[in-house]
Amino acid sequence: MSDRQLETAADPQFKADVLNGLRGPRRAIPARWFYDERGSELFDDITRLPEYYPTRTETALLQSCSADLAARIGPGAAVIEFGAGSATKTPLLLEAIAPSAYVPIDISGDYLRSSADILQSRFPGLKVIPVEADFTGDVELPEILGASQRLGFFPGSTIGNFVPRSSVDLLRHMRDILGEGAKLLIGFDRIKPDEVLIPAYDDMSGVTAAFNLNLLHRINGELNGNIPVEAFVHDVRWNDMQSRIEMHLRCLRNVEFRVSGEAFAMKAGESIHTENSHKYDLRGLRLLLRAGAWTPIADYSDQKGWFTLVLAEAAPLFAAP
Ligand code: AVI
Repeated sequence: MSDRQLETAADPQFKADVLNGLRGPRRAIPARWFYDERGSELFDDITRLPEYYPTRTETALLQSCSADLAARIGPGAAVIEFGAGSATKTPLLLEAIAPSAYVPIDISGDYLRSSADILQSRFPGLKVIPVEADFTGDVELPEILGASQRLGFFPGSTIGNFVPRSSVDLLRHMRDILGEGAKLLIGFDRIKPDEVLIPAYDDMSGVTAAFNLNLLHRINGELNGNIPVEAFVHDVRWNDMQSRIEMHLRCLRNVEFRVSGEAFAMKAGESIHTENSHKYDLRGLRLLLRAGAWTPIADYSDQKGWFTLVLAEAAPLFAAP
């Protein structure tokens, strides 16, 4: 393929986000663009790192709270997962609550279908109905769900990758999708000491660094770029004021490069902000849910208080005093 054909194949939103993000003055590219095929593989590797505690902590929590969840949700619910579903966490939930249907919603059709097929073979009697859509936009749930109890599932502390204003918008949007009477099971990563947080995002084996730097390779490959990737390093910071881990790509020397025919220059020490991962305390996460029109009804945390799963119910829409 010629450079021009390569670019025509690229996602126009990716191109717009990258060009706008590189123009500055505060350079930033949305974290959703990490997840090309290589980025998704690297993220899978991250979830198995000894330093990356969220996945194993949340998985253990799902196991320990399964009986309580089953009692609160009841059998026959329709589980609507925001994202394609994790190979370990989703089966744990499905086994615990015996739902009537499972509806994963994901923008990446191929990934969605293959993970839905795997789940279907594991739960042959379950209606598995994948919906290919961007769940931050318009989503129609399958009519076949009828009036069954709806349970939204949003694990992984992915809510932390949205700034609070967007998290509230997303939570309200989920409430609109799921409707009156719905419940939501959602994972939040908690505030903890820097000595635990920083290595979780800057591991010894360099997998998270490779995940971050892969974004530059993706830009070069899909947007006809010539960014000198070796001039950039993975940079992780705890921003206490915003209660979040930030990932940046910091430039070690002055560089000039082109992306999609547009010229850019960066000075040594300047960086591109690539991800926020917000961390919450218990009251903060409950308030966030309430601002998003969800009322927390139960929460489950590990002994160290590193991660919390919350079961919430759709708040009534009338204005409370
Ligand atoms: C997907 N998300 C919840 C991860 C996180 O912890 O914020 C993404 C990630 N970035 C670096 N490591 C993991």
